[in-house]
Amino acid sequence: RIYPDLYQGSQAVAQEIAALIRDKQKKKQKCVLGLATGSTPKALYAELVRMHREEKLSFKNVISFNLDEYYPISKNERQSYNRFMKYHLFDHVDIDPKNIHIPDGEVAKDDIKAQAAAYEKKIAAVGGIDLQILGIGKNGHIGFNEPGSSVLSKMRLIALDNSTRIANAYEFSSMAEVPRLAITMGISNILQAKKIVLLAWGGSKAKVIQQSVEEDVTERIPASLLQNHDDVTFVIDESAGVEL
Ligand code: GLP
Repeated sequence: RIYPDLYQGSQAVAQEIAALIRDKQKKKQKCVLGLATGSTPKALYAELVRMHREEKLSFKNVISFNLDEYYPISKNERQSYNRFMKYHLFDHVDIDPKNIHIPDGEVAKDDIKAQAAAYEKKIAAVGGIDLQILGIGKNGHIGFNEPGSSVLSKMRLIALDNSTRIANAYEFSSMAEVPRLAITMGISNILQAKKIVLLAWGGSKAKVIQQSVEEDVTERIPASLLQNHDDVTFVIDESAGVEL
């Protein structure tokens, strides 16, 4: 779906999320959301916060699982995705902190595998992700699944591509401070979500959007692997759609 700008696209997706949350509330069910970070979903989260304030949208039945986190990083560091989520969403809505899950960038390296397996188990225990929100890297990464990530990949520690470190350097005071590693949900975890919405704004994403949607399915462009899923929507603005 192509919208004139990122605000209209973000509003439409916020309305879909709100409808899902309210529908689950009526049925007295939990709503399991898979959440993303980066600059792309900021307007979406701002809209959800507005709906909480002005339209009584409650997050009491929401359980959230974030895709990824830098490694190593302290939860309180400005650039951590833990802090990002609090700043942009969780501190402003009524979600129960017990229902928030974000990969832990502070865990000892030897414990990452066990922690990743436990994270996957928690997702399965609540019946899987109802709606997964994704952004996309210019190299086609989803979460931090860099090109070459297997369609079968699970949650794991991954080395960031240099292009990703350069793209995200603006969040840090210098390139040297950008972590070289991250913990990410794998492609297979993402593909298990019942519904997936990928967001992309701006001309810098136009090429990779075209490759992901129109070209072959290849592990070289991780987002192209989404073509194998039954319920995926790319929500983009006009600029991100110019190559289609
Ligand atoms: C980040 C995140 C991804 C995100 C992507 C694009 O580093 N790990 O989940 O989708 O890269 O970032 P942005 O939205 O800032 O363009």
